Amino acid sequence: MSVQDFREENAIGKAYDGRLVRRLLRYAKPYWATILAAALLIGFVTSADLAPPYLSAIAIDSYIGGLSQPMASFSPQTAPAGAVRYDGRAYVRLQNLHQKYHGTLYAIDKAPNGKEYLVKGIEQSRTVKWRGNVPMLGGRALTAQPLSTRALDRFRQQDVHGLLMLGIIYGLVVVVAFAANYIQTYILQWAGQMIVFDIRRQLFRHIEGMHLQYFDRNPIGRLVTRVTNDTEALNEVYTSVIVNIFKDLFLLVGAMVIMWEMNHFLALVGYAIIPLLIVSTIIYTNYARGAYRTVRIYLARLNAFLSENFSGMRVLQAMRQELRQQRRFDQDNTGYLRAGIRELTIFAVFRPTMNFFYNLTAAALIWWGGGSVLEHIVAFGVVYAFIGYAQQFYQPINDMADKYQIMQAAMAASERIFQVLDTPREVLDAAEPLALARPLRGEIRFEHVWFAYDGEEWVLKDVDFSVQPGQSVAFVGATGAGKSSIVNLIGRFYDVQRGRVLVDGKDVRELEQKELRRAVGMVLQDVFLFAGNVRDNIRLGDDIPPDLVEQAAANVHADTFIERLPGHYDEEVLERGATFSAGQRQLIAFARVLAHDPEVLVLDEATASIDTETEALIQSALERVSEGRTTLIVAHRLSTIRHCDQIFVLNHGRIVEHGTHEELLARRGLYWDLYRLQYRGGPEEGQLAADGAASD
Ligand SMILES: Nc1ncnc2c1ncn2[C@@H]1O[C@H](COP(=O)(O)OP(=O)(O)OP(=O)(O)O)[C@@H](O)[C@H]1O
Ligand SMILES: [Mg+2]
Repeated sequence: MSVQDFREENAIGKAYDGRLVRRLLRYAKPYWATILAAALLIGFVTSADLAPPYLSAIAIDSYIGGLSQPMASFSPQTAPAGAVRYDGRAYVRLQNLHQKYHGTLYAIDKAPNGKEYLVKGIEQSRTVKWRGNVPMLGGRALTAQPLSTRALDRFRQQDVHGLLMLGIIYGLVVVVAFAANYIQTYILQWAGQMIVFDIRRQLFRHIEGMHLQYFDRNPIGRLVTRVTNDTEALNEVYTSVIVNIFKDLFLLVGAMVIMWEMNHFLALVGYAIIPLLIVSTIIYTNYARGAYRTVRIYLARLNAFLSENFSGMRVLQAMRQELRQQRRFDQDNTGYLRAGIRELTIFAVFRPTMNFFYNLTAAALIWWGGGSVLEHIVAFGVVYAFIGYAQQFYQPINDMADKYQIMQAAMAASERIFQVLDTPREVLDAAEPLALARPLRGEIRFEHVWFAYDGEEWVLKDVDFSVQPGQSVAFVGATGAGKSSIVNLIGRFYDVQRGRVLVDGKDVRELEQKELRRAVGMVLQDVFLFAGNVRDNIRLGDDIPPDLVEQAAANVHADTFIERLPGHYDEEVLERGATFSAGQRQLIAFARVLAHDPEVLVLDEATASIDTETEALIQSALERVSEGRTTLIVAHRLSTIRHCDQIFVLNHGRIVEHGTHEELLARRGLYWDLYRLQYRGGPEEGQLAADGAASD
């Protein structure tokens, strides 16, 4: 990986970029209904989250502490429904009374002797104090009547009933919340996965259709990361940020409203935590961003280092670089560790700080709330509920720090993903491609072709030649002369800058790429085998019957070695075909091309790694299969191309000589030089030819 890539990993800064977010939302569009449903369900879930403290407050104040609630007293005839009858009177708790009442208030209170008394004449905002077994209110003694256990039970009856009802409601809320939560989590994750699935698919299709130059410029590891890691970072945006932001806001606002409704003063005490939380979150994210970035950079470096080392292990070991690489690895590994510890330290300060603030608030609520309870201004259950609600808005703000980090990573990831998607394909099919008449005649023409991989560094200069249908031609020349480049242009893996490449008289740019490549079969310099078995590697996904596969293999004499494999044609091939020799890989590639029966055959150093004996066999087979087929051969070993109809000699991207083997030797030019160098026998032609096969 170059510096450029680390800069890419470096680009973590903004947690929100409207342009990117709008574009990301576009991917969510097909799933809007699902996401909307999830958002609505979240409303449910949050209400359910908000309910417990409120229900607890009711349970505590109205029922558990229900006996001490002030009661109105009626004569049995005029008492409203639900009144408790006792000793010739009927009592109703004020909170259950739906009419005005100005009469004497009663309440049940516990005397120091442990017995419960029905106290007459209490006031709502003042506490009854006991002097011995006499209840006092503001220095005035009140009348009180001790209650038997049975009488007490009668008053308790409504509490038991109320608690039961509350319990059922609580239970229902929990069950509904569970169900809503389950469904919401499921469909939201589903939508997120689908969106990311779509993005991955689009990415792969886009990258797959990219011109080869793109792959020359972008390390494979980087592209893999785009399709896997970066899309995963996006998944988190959809699943844990977008909808949860609503959830958090809901929770925050909901808790605040309920608190305000329950008690203004305590609500303000509770709100005091918010600025503290926000300020510490901002401070935290500031520090965390830097630490996070360092961690990412070291991770990217480690990844790059590892992938390079593992792929180059053979060379590393051969060149005894292990120790040096260990030291380099240790350096990066230590850096990664330090960065990780730094991130951890910041986090380790942050979380307890948040907890501290929360506990501070709880303490404040207990202090003021508790005081108010004692003064009968606030019911105990309300204070209890408040502590619960303080937790409710502590949580979302706390989570925001995480969300912030997810968003940062996601913005950076989407920036990189869109960069890939926005890179236009350079080798494109024409809007209305010309059809190739099949079978192809197989005529190939290069018309004054100028070609460069990069800018104006011409690799091919004014290359002009034509191959008649069914002819076999060869290209020879020094390393780097441009032979493979010519081959690449026939299959239109790159586009020429000047001139034209014609197949059957049609510019390759006007043909459909798929069609063209079906007609032109190539055995390239470096053979690539895919994971799978031998048969699949020959068939390559096309529908070719097994006997044709085997026939193709037999034609190039690959069958001898394949049949020696334990699994024959079903033998497993590892990625890149690492368990095969270079020559065996070439034989498979050869069989692969023949099985597809193309009209034009292109062989770029196709037999370079094959032993002379097999090569001779292939040579004869080739003469058979290349009959009636246009064949282009690139070869260093001149003995293999002697019989070609035409030989082109390339030098620094120009065709400097052409003709048959005999014509070229007679010219005593570059070809003759090359030939002489290869076969040190002597200048005499017949002698040379005889030596050729043996000394190579
Ligand atoms: N993908 C590429 N991107 C940029 N430059 C390239 C690329 N492939 C080849 N070149 C350059 O183009 C020139 C010609 O390369 P080419 O592969 O055509 O040579 P060749 O004749 O096939 O050599 P060899 O006999 O070694 O296979 C070389 O100078 C090489 O550096
Ligand atoms: Mg080459």
